Amino acid sequence: MRLGIYTDPHYSSQELTCGVRFNSRSLEKIREAYKFFESERCGLAVCLGDLIDSENRHETEIENLGKIAAIIKASPVPTVCLMGNHDAFAFEKDEFYGILGAGTVPVNRVIDGRRLLFLDACYFENGARYMPGDSGWTDTYFPFEKELGEAVSSSREDIYVFIHQNLDPAAGERHCVANLKNVNRILSDCEKVRAVYQGHFHPGCRNVIGGIRYVTFPAMCESDGAYFIEDI
Ligand SMILES: [Fe+2]
Ligand SMILES: [Fe+2]
Repeated sequence: MRLGIYTDPHYSSQELTCGVRFNSRSLEKIREAYKFFESERCGLAVCLGDLIDSENRHETEIENLGKIAAIIKASPVPTVCLMGNHDAFAFEKDEFYGILGAGTVPVNRVIDGRRLLFLDACYFENGARYMPGDSGWTDTYFPFEKELGEAVSSSREDIYVFIHQNLDPAAGERHCVANLKNVNRILSDCEKVRAVYQGHFHPGCRNVIGGIRYVTFPAMCESDGAYFIEDI
């Protein structure tokens, strides 16, 4: 099956933040990404998180996410959106998916004989969930090791994992989930995981660890044409 993937649009009204993030340009880039996914006949699009960046007023954040939702809803390519730390800083989960639409909620599924697992690491290392006004880009943790172990060990299909934060140590310790060693052990032990797709580390990187491809996609807000096709 053919996937369309993009990550870290950080869409907001700001022209430039952090010296490298062209926030306001990302809406047009998302439009471009969907044109590309449609022309490439993608069966599913996945946004790996940090869709938006924060604004002074929450109403503006709602408007901004609504504009992204309109593009997603207008496309014939169905989309799943993961929450990133910036999304969690602005939105509580229900509000976020209430705006984006129920179809974008990351629910694990089997499509065309491939099992897609969506991991949510928008948690602090102490186990508390990120809340509006209180998230962290360096303090991230995946609290569902047991459930993940059950999901991968019972799978008869090849597995593809999607997560906003990083499981590839090459992204640097600060970008990685605190329990990445445990999580990666669970993934490699089952011998069915083919790839792990991540965002969050804006430059992106690629590695193969224990036979699994770890792909961190470059951030959409920092370059042009940062949308990708993965044939799995
Ligand atoms: Fe980001
Ligand atoms: Fe992030």
